[in-house]
Amino acid sequence: MARSYKIQVLPGDGIGPEVIDEAVKVLNTIAIGISGLNLSFHEFPCGGKYYLETGCEWPGEAEVFARQEADAILLGAVGWEKSPGEPVRREDGQMAGAAVVLGQRRELQLYANVRPVKLYPGIPTPLADKQPDDIDFVIIRENTEGLYSGIGKHYQEDTAEELAIDVRPISRVGAERVIRYAFNLAQKRRQGAPRDGKRRVTCVDKSNVLLGDQLFRRVFAECAHSFPQLEPDYAYIDAWTMWCLRQPEYYNVIVTPNLYGDIITDLGAAIQGGMGVAAGGNIGDSQAMFEPIHGSAPRHAGKRRANPTAAILAGKMLLEWLAERHKDQNALHAATVVEQAVVDVLKEGRIRTYDLCVGPYAQLKPSTTKQVGTAIRKRIQQLLKEK
Ligand code: IPM
Ligand code: MN
Repeated sequence: MARSYKIQVLPGDGIGPEVIDEAVKVLNTIAIGISGLNLSFHEFPCGGKYYLETGCEWPGEAEVFARQEADAILLGAVGWEKSPGEPVRREDGQMAGAAVVLGQRRELQLYANVRPVKLYPGIPTPLADKQPDDIDFVIIRENTEGLYSGIGKHYQEDTAEELAIDVRPISRVGAERVIRYAFNLAQKRRQGAPRDGKRRVTCVDKSNVLLGDQLFRRVFAECAHSFPQLEPDYAYIDAWTMWCLRQPEYYNVIVTPNLYGDIITDLGAAIQGGMGVAAGGNIGDSQAMFEPIHGSAPRHAGKRRANPTAAILAGKMLLEWLAERHKDQNALHAATVVEQAVVDVLKEGRIRTYDLCVGPYAQLKPSTTKQVGTAIRKRIQQLLKEK
């Protein structure tokens, strides 16, 4: 029997709508091609531009739909500018649109921010001498507490004594659920670290200095006992950034507190070929939201040149999550075909947006957002026919 899933679509600001348009078309193509899979799309406005127009970050129905109706959420990006360099802010100073990203992460308890760092063939990496086979790890970023707790205070504004404090809570419960997620993922992944095949889970922290990180590492060590077939590994965040550039092949699954995860996942995106190809999922026990991690990129908006690959890969992660949650082989098959189509188009080489026209591809004429989406959809149709 065909399963039906309601996908909430939140295109948001800037290049969000341009790339999400292609991702939704790809998801539609795969759902049409696989008879056991039905997807319906439910689109809502949100973001900084919407806030300028309406005074709210998204309609109330959108929030209710996310909580009660959606089987999964696909988000483009939020964040808009009134003028270059001047972001639209809420009255409390927070970026307008934050309720949709940061708010939902906490509201829906999407505690694992999952960011695969995989170098696909046909994508140049800035790391000399590294090949696709060397870069294939996943960063799991704690997504609900730490420096993103929203707790803090601003004192003596506009005086010489001005002071701002951000509170960084790290709880046992918060640490344990995300660390368990990382160990479970390492167990399920097809292979271990590229260097030696070891199913390694690395705890990246700053426990030589910070109390919260000492708790995080202690909980990690405790969890490790329940997974004797996995190799626990430890790194301080500062040293890890260096090792990641020198020997990415050593890593398999990484788990880290919130802000460190924010920073190192951009580093990860750089070595996998840039923001144009980096996707992520915000995953909880009963809901999940997937997004390209590049943000709204106001400078590139409306130019039809943004790379939709990250958004399409976010769609692939969404399918994988549905597959796992509902034990749905059709959704899993769909995810595999989408990824294969992306790989094939990248490998073939000619159709690519400007950001990937570097190194051996520097002489190519950059494709538009739509051309890339269309090439991937055509390839999906071919792959489905070949079966
Ligand atoms: C990310 C982004 C967000 C974050 C921004 C948009 C608030 O950078 O998802 O990594 O800091 O988490
Ligand atoms: Mn970030």
